[in-house]
Amino acid sequence: MKGISIPVGASLALVGLCRANLDIITLNTRGDTWIQEASATLILGDVPNPMAGDVALWSAIMMDKRDFLQGVTENALNSPYCPNLGSSQYARNGAPVSAAPGSRIKTHYKLNPDTNLWDQNLYVDGKLLSSISTSQGQRGVIFYISIECAAGTCSPAPAHTWDDISITLNKADPSFKHTGAWQYKATGGEMSTADNGKTWNFTTLHVPDTPITG
Ligand SMILES: *[C@@H]1O[C@H](CO)[C@@H](O)[C@H](O)[C@H]1NC(C)=O
Repeated sequence: MKGISIPVGASLALVGLCRANLDIITLNTRGDTWIQEASATLILGDVPNPMAGDVALWSAIMMDKRDFLQGVTENALNSPYCPNLGSSQYARNGAPVSAAPGSRIKTHYKLNPDTNLWDQNLYVDGKLLSSISTSQGQRGVIFYISIECAAGTCSPAPAHTWDDISITLNKADPSFKHTGAWQYKATGGEMSTADNGKTWNFTTLHVPDTPITG
């Protein structure tokens, strides 16, 4: 069964526990520019074969103070990964839901200007299934799209794609644009902006079958 635990406000320290982490996209903000909104839609590939360890696919935003907002899609039998994230002092998890291969899993993270909280919504095939609001007053500084072997020895992560990746900064910064290929043989994911660098949209990112060792 596929367990998806999204979204998560987890502490930085736990991120350090990762066994093997392959960051395909790493996008840093600069100076007094920060991320105020982001979304990304994972189109699930096949189930890892054999099911082994905990193959986790995620988007995330590193915050400036403490938190790591992380929308995780994991395939594991009994991995402690998501429960562990929720057991640290500050961490809070949204309700986990399940999804089948081929599902469109969208995570939307937005700093709500009224509450100053980060509203995090998880949609599967367009239906809102899980929400949480955390991380009041924090600002996004790094955006990630990653593959992780979160427990045990993992099978390769089957090929998958990310659609409609979008990042909104607090103000325009044309230098936020990444040029050239992303990591781990991913293709696509080309960034463009129609407002001189405040809102960035990506073409579809294709991630091939990826062994996860480390
Ligand atoms: C960028 O992506 C956002 C969110 O998916 C969408 O609402 C917007 O229309 C897109 N902008 C352009 C210029 O394509």
